[in-house]
Amino acid sequence: MQLPALHKFEQTIERQLRLLELKKTVIERNIGRQFRLLEQKRDDFGKKIEEQIRQFEQKRGIRLDDEVRFLRSWIERPLSIGAVTPSSKVLARTMARYVDPDSDGPVVELGPGTGPVTEALVKAGVAPSRLVLVEFNPAFCRILRARYPDATLVQGDAYSLRRLLETLLLQPAAAVVSGLPLVTKPIKMRLRLLRDAFDLMLPGAPFVQFTYSVASPLPRRLAGFSVEASERIWLNLPPARVWVYRKA
Ligand SMILES: C[S@@+](CC[C@H](N)C(=O)[O-])C[C@H]1O[C@@H](n2cnc3c(N)ncnc32)[C@H](O)[C@@H]1O
Repeated sequence: MQLPALHKFEQTIERQLRLLELKKTVIERNIGRQFRLLEQKRDDFGKKIEEQIRQFEQKRGIRLDDEVRFLRSWIERPLSIGAVTPSSKVLARTMARYVDPDSDGPVVELGPGTGPVTEALVKAGVAPSRLVLVEFNPAFCRILRARYPDATLVQGDAYSLRRLLETLLLQPAAAVVSGLPLVTKPIKMRLRLLRDAFDLMLPGAPFVQFTYSVASPLPRRLAGFSVEASERIWLNLPPARVWVYRKA
């Protein structure tokens, strides 16, 4: 290529690059605007639902405190909360049924939320002082602290179970009961949580987990583990099933 032709070619390339840069900025700005719109819509949707709930409460003369708090948290962080409402009494009772109240040692609950399963455990005979509640939502922690002052509350990430509980538990746990939305996490993370939980538990102690999904949230054929499941619990929104894993 002759020199003037090369120069022209470079100028064309530079012009194309500037155009590309411009287009990129416009696209980035558009994406930013769409995100802000989405956030705004989500906030409006949240406010609308809360208003409808308030009206419903006024009309019926009732208070849906826990449900409203839950819904608000779900609107803020849908994937971490994993449910729109707290578990029903039937689901909570089914979870609690797998824990032997006469066993020795602490009972660890992961993701207790506003505490429906905690309540079922206490009603089933587990002393509140045996409960170790691991919850990362500060609003839920405030509720739990007020309702279960004798329980040990750990505000933190349940997926760091080993670090959180290793020095806190004075004896092996009699059970781990989990309301965590496990299926939103990669399988590697779920298996690590299970392994850490079993390292903190008595031999044969149950890891009790509920899920809305059809399949077991952990592989059904886990070497060295036994797995059992409850009937599907239709009286819950959405219907759920309880899975219990034990180290053979
Ligand atoms: C599906 S809700 C279940 C709440 C309650 N157990 C029930 O049955 O209504 C999941 C709960 O797990 C909590 N959670 C989710 N991820 C967590 C994590 N990594 N560490 C601690 N808590 C977590 C959420 O804040 C929420 O309270």
